Amino acid sequence: MSSLKPVRGTHDILPGDLRRHRHVENAAFETAGRYGFEEISTPIFEFTEVFSRTLGDTSDIVTKEMYTFADKGDDLITLRPEGTAGIARAFISSGLSHQLPLKFFYRGPMFRYERPQKGRQRQFHQVGVELLGVDSPLADVEVISIASDFLSALGVDGKVVCELNSLGDSDSRSAYRQTLVDYLMDHINSLSEDSRARLDRNPLRILDSKDKGDRAIIADAPLITDCLNDPSKRFFDELLEGLEISGVAYTLNPKLVRGLDYYCHTAFEFTTDALGAQGALVAGGRYDGLIKQMGGPQTPGTGWAAGVERLALMIDDPIGKKRPIAMIPIGNEAAELVLRLTQELRRAGHTIDLGYAGNMKKRMQRANKISACAAVIIGEDELSKNAVVVRDMDSGEQTEIPLSTLEDFLSRFL
Ligand code: HAM
Repeated sequence: MSSLKPVRGTHDILPGDLRRHRHVENAAFETAGRYGFEEISTPIFEFTEVFSRTLGDTSDIVTKEMYTFADKGDDLITLRPEGTAGIARAFISSGLSHQLPLKFFYRGPMFRYERPQKGRQRQFHQVGVELLGVDSPLADVEVISIASDFLSALGVDGKVVCELNSLGDSDSRSAYRQTLVDYLMDHINSLSEDSRARLDRNPLRILDSKDKGDRAIIADAPLITDCLNDPSKRFFDELLEGLEISGVAYTLNPKLVRGLDYYCHTAFEFTTDALGAQGALVAGGRYDGLIKQMGGPQTPGTGWAAGVERLALMIDDPIGKKRPIAMIPIGNEAAELVLRLTQELRRAGHTIDLGYAGNMKKRMQRANKISACAAVIIGEDELSKNAVVVRDMDSGEQTEIPLSTLEDFLSRFL
């Protein structure tokens, strides 16, 4: 075998980390559930065109980051880099257009061939929500509120800001595109090579450039908010008003553009300084043209996705492991009774560690190591009396209990 290391950018998630991951996922699921969102699961791979035709020809994802391969039937397949396009595809292929509005929650692995660093993997996990079929900005208010409540439930809201922008409708975007290109053309010689290449095909993405020289030029660039037409302005005003009524704090960032092409009107990111370069925790926006562009009926949509790994880095171990009860048989004779008792107690809801082997001392050491809350000690003496000794591992107190009342006695440790 060439290497026993996981593939670069992928990770084994060991139990301690996985507890945090699951806590993040469950907090998102429960919060979205309170807004009436139901879980959906779509395949982790799709025909390549589901992504290549929707995320943007010039987007980093499509140009550099997709895991694409021909399968044995020569179909071109891509491991999903994000969840929205797959859900839009599922909406069309399952013929759900008569059930609108639809509110979906999802979770699962995503794949992007990016340069790995803290908070950025090639296989990572997202939780997300998508609300389909609602034109009104009220839908955006709702999805942004879910994100805000979710971050509060995780206790990270104090370290996060919601950055918000409007990309307007397509007329506003074309007007802005022209204004921006005119401005950038005046500085073309100072722009980075990457940005010059984007000028023609996707000038808005230049606003996202990390290049120092570009940043100086962008600082004085015209703003999209100045190019919004009246309907787009009205939409944005209603969104802001709805967020204020809902008690969701936000900061306007007129330079916020998203890396995917399907957005219109609302664009937002909940960002933090706590993770270094990878500051976006939750990101999303409105995508009214996506489903139609894929060949479905005109259906507006809005939603977001959050990086589970990034959020897991922000929280403490949420619950800790459930503390087990250790079974400590002394001598072979107790073994049979211990196995029977163990199964009865597990079926009654207790978490039991069987220890498997070793003398009393070894087994007590293990009970400490796994931070057992109690130890049930069964020796010859106890066997003859049909009793066991229960040791409270925190207080050290030992009590002899008749076998018949053991389950009852242990209920204090549940
Ligand atoms: P995105 O901004 O590409 O949007 O990703 C959303 C979030 O996924 C990011 O803010 C980040 O937390 C996490 N993420 C992205 N790439 C990585 C990576 N390589 N490693 C770790 N975490 C990562 C979308 O995916 C859109 N589908 C969101 C959306 C849903 N818009 C509307 N509905």
